[in-house]
Order: sequence, then C-alpha cells, then structure tokens
Amino acid sequence: MTSENKVVGQAAPPAHLAVRGIHKRFGGVHALRGVDFEVARGEVMALVGDNGAGKSTLMKVLAGAHLADDGAFFLDGKPAEVTSPNDASELGIQIVYQDLALCENLDVSANLSLGSEPVKPGWSFLPRLLRPLDDLEMEVKAKKAIDRLEVRTLQSVRAKVGGLSGGQRQAIAIARAVGAESTVVMLDEPTAALGVAQTRQVLEVVKRLRETNHAVVYISHNMRDIFEVSDRITVLRHGTNVATYTTSETNPDEIVVAMTRGLDTENGNAA
Ligand SMILES: Nc1ncnc2c1ncn2[C@@H]1O[C@H](COP(=O)(O)OP(=O)(O)OP(=O)(O)O)[C@@H](O)[C@H]1O
Ligand SMILES: [Mg+2]
Repeated sequence: MTSENKVVGQAAPPAHLAVRGIHKRFGGVHALRGVDFEVARGEVMALVGDNGAGKSTLMKVLAGAHLADDGAFFLDGKPAEVTSPNDASELGIQIVYQDLALCENLDVSANLSLGSEPVKPGWSFLPRLLRPLDDLEMEVKAKKAIDRLEVRTLQSVRAKVGGLSGGQRQAIAIARAVGAESTVVMLDEPTAALGVAQTRQVLEVVKRLRETNHAVVYISHNMRDIFEVSDRITVLRHGTNVATYTTSETNPDEIVVAMTRGLDTENGNAA
C-alpha cells in the first residue's frame, strides 16, 4: 500500500531521487509503512519526525544500507535499483552517518581518500595494497574538496582528524561524501552534538551543497536550523508520511503539530 503524500505549499521541483511506497520491517517493528519521499537537485529537503518516526531508517534505505521490503526507487524519473551501498554510490547517493566514521589517527587528506587512495605512478607491478600512496595527490584532492565547500576554519589538510572540532569533522565527513562525485548528500542530525559556532559552520556547508546543485537530505530536530537551511520539509510520523511543506510557507508550530499529532483530518480531529 502506498500512502498518498500530501503536499502543502508550492508545486514541487522535479525530483532527482524519489522513492514510493517504501516498507521496512525489523522483526515485529514495522518501521516504514509505505513512505513516499523525494528530493530535487539544488534543494535542501529536511526530514523531520519524532524519535522513532523512521527518519534514519528511510535515509539508510535511500543509501542502500538497509534493503527495503517493498517500494520503488526513481532517479530523474527513471526506475532505479538500490539494494546495496555500492548501488547507491554508483547512482551518486552518499550518506554522512552521525558517528561520521572518520579515522582519528589519520590526517584530513588521508580521511578524504579512504578507500580510494591514489597510489604513486610506476609501482603497478606490485599488488595494489603494497603500492606506495601518493601523498601529494591525496593532499591536492583533499584541498579541492575542502575549497569546494569553502571550509575556512581548517588550517591544513595535514591536520590529524583527532585534533579537530566537531564542526570541522562534520565538514570533513561531508567533503568526503561530496568528493565521490555525488549528486545526493544525506546528513543525519549533523549538528546534534555541536555548539553554536560549529553548527553555523555546518549550516554554511549545507547551503554550499545546495549552491553546487546537490540534492541534500537533512535530518534534524532543531527547528531553527531546519527553517534556516531547508527549502522543503517532509514530516514522518510512525513510519508514514504526514505531509511535505514548502519551508517559506509554513512555520515551526505547524511542523511540530504535524510531527506530534499528524495532519488534522477534515472533520477537525487530530490524526
Ligand atoms: N536495526 C534495527 N533493528 C531493529 N529495529 C530498528 C532498527 N533500526 C531502527 N529500528 C526501529 O525502527 C523504528 C524507526 O527508527 P529510526 O531510527 O528510523 O527512527 P528516527 O526517526 O531516526 O528516530 P530518532 O529521531 O530517535 O533518531 C524505531 O522503532 C526503531 O526502534
Ligand atoms: Mg535517527
């Protein structure tokens, strides 16, 4: 069964990534119950809902980290298949997990190249794992990724990640996702553990992603951040869609009501 997603506000821009009728069960828990979701290039789509609403599960389904039990994927309107993180990454879909999965003991440039480290030319007679890494190439790649996102507070790509602030780490994790030729970047509560200045830095990076024509999915509980950074807001409740709002045409109170009570039905009762 596919839920009918209500759209509140302007007509939607053409979807880049869309899913319809997504179901996901974990044993007895029916976490997603026919969810529709979409995001366009050059927009930030906020994904909100109470604890346990299914936001992280939906994001992991979109990233191929969880296999949906049912439902369909579309990329630029064409049916697509996402059954593994590899499928998702080949389609340009990248996720930044809350724990970031950065290596503390490596520097920024090594973290940005993890899994696709450039090797020095001329050593191809050795098995790949034994070839010397091209530090310079790694540094150049890292500088490009950081410059693209205009992360200004980072002194050097040679700095160890262990010594960076939370906001800087978040920016590095985002730069890594963006570096992989992605078109969709998904962030799960990127500012949850950050102070004011660091949150600001991450919000600027998110805006920068929109400017570079990425489709951005942004999960957050912070209404102020959501209203600052998003173009649209999709509300989930108990694993189903409540509605999708145009940010400029709604307000935090309306979103909180939708998150906690759902949409009022026609006869005036809370859903
Ligand atoms: N790996 C898992 N195994 C079993 N149940 C899970 C798993 N992941 C999520 N769930 C369940 O699915 C439901 C949705 O969880 P999810 O993490 O998607 O919620 P959320 O909206 O991200 O919540 P929060 O705001 O607390 O992060 C919850 O009932 C949760 O307990
Ligand atoms: Mg979550």
